[in-house]
Amino acid sequence: MHLFITCPPNLEQLLTEELQSLGMAARRWPRGVSAPLTIENVYIINYGSRFATRVLWPLAHFDCPNREALYNEAKKIPWMDYLTIDKTFAIDSNATNNPEFRNSHFAGLVVKDAICDVFREKTGKRPSVEVYNPAVQIHVFIFENKATISFDTTGAPLFKRGYRSGAVEAPLQETLAAAILKYADYTPEDILCDPFCGSGTFLWEAALMATNTPPAYFRKNFGFFSHPLYKEEEWLAIKSKLDSRIQAMKPYSIFGGDRDRKAIELCKATQKNTKFPLHFQHAHVHNLKTLLQPTLVVANPPYGTRIQAPSDPYLELAEFLKTTCNGKARAAILSPHRSLPPAFGRSHKKPIPLLNGGLEIFLHLTD
Ligand SMILES: C[S@@+](CC[C@H](N)C(=O)[O-])C[C@H]1O[C@@H](n2cnc3c(N)ncnc32)[C@H](O)[C@@H]1O
Repeated sequence: MHLFITCPPNLEQLLTEELQSLGMAARRWPRGVSAPLTIENVYIINYGSRFATRVLWPLAHFDCPNREALYNEAKKIPWMDYLTIDKTFAIDSNATNNPEFRNSHFAGLVVKDAICDVFREKTGKRPSVEVYNPAVQIHVFIFENKATISFDTTGAPLFKRGYRSGAVEAPLQETLAAAILKYADYTPEDILCDPFCGSGTFLWEAALMATNTPPAYFRKNFGFFSHPLYKEEEWLAIKSKLDSRIQAMKPYSIFGGDRDRKAIELCKATQKNTKFPLHFQHAHVHNLKTLLQPTLVVANPPYGTRIQAPSDPYLELAEFLKTTCNGKARAAILSPHRSLPPAFGRSHKKPIPLLNGGLEIFLHLTD
């Protein structure tokens, strides 16, 4: 059996390459990547992957034609090794293309019953379910006739990096923002600007990359703290090895602007948590000034405004690229449309389709 690492749709290839660069024999699958099953890999991926969502440690994999099969196979797992009466647990379930499990929640209930029955039969008591923040998260995945039950070594999904002080409406998911920066070939040498920065997701992710800071550096909790193979000294040794690669950021290299004062206040509050030397300005895109001329502009302008209306944020962005950036910056722009308005007038690469909160969007990259 292998670790299965889930990620947002369409990021499987990036995640495979990232895990390979972390020294693992990783293999791409739909909706995720597999990697060798070791507790060291669990520490490294949870702490060091920018694109992973969850790292799942399989406990059983079996044919699952119906409820009885799921219950009986779930009961065979040595649950006493993974849970105790005083630890809370939760089940996260996902069932697709199996007529007996049209409702994913039902599959979760069956596994919960199996776990509780194992404990009741052996001790007369059962551990409690705690949906939010359980000590142990179990993952049930059913696809067609096959089921996998896994120990979730992540807990809260990895896009919850732990650096945010809050979020504006429609923030980007951190894993997606990191992927967009990667697609845009962002490097620490770039002067990066997001003129529609909102809560600053692109900018914090860029600061983590530029400084080589592990993406989970600000997280306090991981599911693997409850895994039976977890050893604090081994985890801390891997953590300090990855932390030792952190480097200083080039000054004046990351700028954000937003016309919403609250968004900028939020960015400044997050800055107190991270201590990254970023620069924020409360400004409409056409008044935004950066100390150095941007070499890369990333933006997720608000959707829903009619393209090419007079106050279209995309047209304002095109103007910003032409005037403030002297037409010299590369751009990575998210849009719900397959093409950008003609005002961008640049050579575009093929748009990359992505999903943002369930909505199909396109990443447009310009040279
Ligand atoms: C979709 S949100 C960006 C979310 C951001 N990527 C994040 O992860 O939090 C769009 C942002 O653009 C800002 N905005 C809209 N029109 C603007 C304009 N003309 N100039 C500057 N900011 C603008 C909004 O205030 C909002 O915060």
